[in-house]
Amino acid sequence: MTQYGVDLFLVLILASLGLSALAIFISVSRRRHHSRAAASQASGDDFATEAARKVLREFEKNGQSVDAALVTWSPDTLRKILADELPDAQVIVVSNREPYIHNETKDGGVELVVPASGLVSALEPITRACGGTWIAYGGGSADRTVVDRNDRVQVPPENPSYTLRRVWLSDDEYQGYYLGFANEGLWPLCHIAFTRPIFRESDWEAYEAVNRKFAETVVAEARNERPIVLVQDYHFALLPRMIRERLPEAIVITFWHIPWPNSEVFSICPWRERILDGLLGSSIMGFHTQFHANNFTESVDRFMESRIERADAAVSYGGQVTLVHSYPISIEWPAELLKALPSVEECRARVRRRFNIPADAKLCVGVERLDYTKGILDRFHALEELFIRHPETIGNVVFLQIAAPSRGTLPAYKHLHEECLRYAEELNQRYGGQSYQPVVMVAEHHSQAAVYELYRAADICLVTSLHDGMNLVAKEFVASRDDEQGVLLLSTFAGASRELLEALIVNPYDAAMMSEAMLQALTMGPDEQHERMRRMRDIVRDNNVFRWAGSMLLDAARLRKRGDLDRVTALYERPAGPTGDNVVSMFERKQAVGFR
Ligand code: F6P
Repeated sequence: MTQYGVDLFLVLILASLGLSALAIFISVSRRRHHSRAAASQASGDDFATEAARKVLREFEKNGQSVDAALVTWSPDTLRKILADELPDAQVIVVSNREPYIHNETKDGGVELVVPASGLVSALEPITRACGGTWIAYGGGSADRTVVDRNDRVQVPPENPSYTLRRVWLSDDEYQGYYLGFANEGLWPLCHIAFTRPIFRESDWEAYEAVNRKFAETVVAEARNERPIVLVQDYHFALLPRMIRERLPEAIVITFWHIPWPNSEVFSICPWRERILDGLLGSSIMGFHTQFHANNFTESVDRFMESRIERADAAVSYGGQVTLVHSYPISIEWPAELLKALPSVEECRARVRRRFNIPADAKLCVGVERLDYTKGILDRFHALEELFIRHPETIGNVVFLQIAAPSRGTLPAYKHLHEECLRYAEELNQRYGGQSYQPVVMVAEHHSQAAVYELYRAADICLVTSLHDGMNLVAKEFVASRDDEQGVLLLSTFAGASRELLEALIVNPYDAAMMSEAMLQALTMGPDEQHERMRRMRDIVRDNNVFRWAGSMLLDAARLRKRGDLDRVTALYERPAGPTGDNVVSMFERKQAVGFR
């Protein structure tokens, strides 16, 4: 059989097994392989056999396809899934934070800001690839001036490829829904950071009203009754049910970007059943880790009249099925903005000049929103512990902390900001001098390009969250280091630690342990750095954000096909015969409606 014959054979077999998506992927990856392997027929044959074996092995093992493992994930792969598996489906993304904020400048102009948000850095390349509409709260001071009369603006500004539809909120709505219920209630409830959640009836009412406002906007933006709606995060727990009521045929994929607590912790929320009911309006509920998916299922099992289908990772509730899966989020690969950045050497020089860092000092960086879940103070504790245990490091290490102000009107965030500034100041007084300041704390927003420049300049990147769904800073640092140097210190309580095993994994609550890990990082030789970084780069490249979105879209396509099949079957429903509703009678029904 020729090479193409082998391919065709594989594709036909898999398609006939009902694995059409998988067949397409093999055909994609095989085609890619063909162009490379034209010179080597023999190795091509090996590839075909190996690919087939891998598929069958994994298929037998999991009862699921391994489409994801066989593909180099890119914007093209996503477009192909949409075109082949979900033809004519309109993609609608819903999030609180918008991908582009227009702000007024002091001189009366308008500046464009890309917010410091993992959600935005992950979803933006996806939406660019899929087109469609992104619905979000318009919070910029110049947002209203740049939209058309339907509150829409085409983005990205330099090369528009999708529509941003802005939703306006009153001060009261913003206060109750975003600052109140989402960020003083759900945020501390879901993160183990020992900050007490605050639940107020008025916040809940605002949260419900704003979710309804977004549901109406989704309906208004939907071109037909069957869009694919990607609902993002804890701001919209009620939205999936509201969409389902208005657009029963929509596929609603909800992704919860933060951890989900165990059912005991979740039970303290006064509206726990309403939240679960809202989320179970989703066709798919996604989490970063299996652990959080399990916590969710456990909460449903405990508080809702439902059936848990463990083997299928699904919940059946109110006559509807929701898949509950883990899809580890990631970043664009290769990162588009890397192309515009200078060499690592040049980035080092620039950053050291800008922050006045001595040429011979090792540079540690931390980059995040100024949030109590990120463990910024714990990092300062570890630095002090390092200086106490290993005084020879004083003068030889500088810690640069970039912290984008976030939710700054809330007391917990104000308090954190003050504490960070106070502790940084103390460390500088205790261990610094005229020409040496061990801590540089910059509480300002930085553009993504500036952040990547810092990553490239760093000897060590510290990601020491007390609790984090995934944490994309860890993955961005790895992506930025095409020189395969630099050490990542990573909290065991960040979802990223499940994938980036070659990082130095730390417990942020243990300052002594963290200080020893910092010493290990400071003294690590280039060969070990290279070995660790290379492996982490392989992981982030293979599990990039296109794979994250692609896996969810493939699951959505399977659901849609199953739903279509069930609908047609139901049309031809007839009472069970004397032998009951067995396989034979089902087969007959399908024959009657033309299924082969
Ligand atoms: O971490 C959860 C999350 O929603 C992220 O997805 C996002 O990066 C961040 O919080 C956004 O915070 P905010 O929009 O409140 O500044």
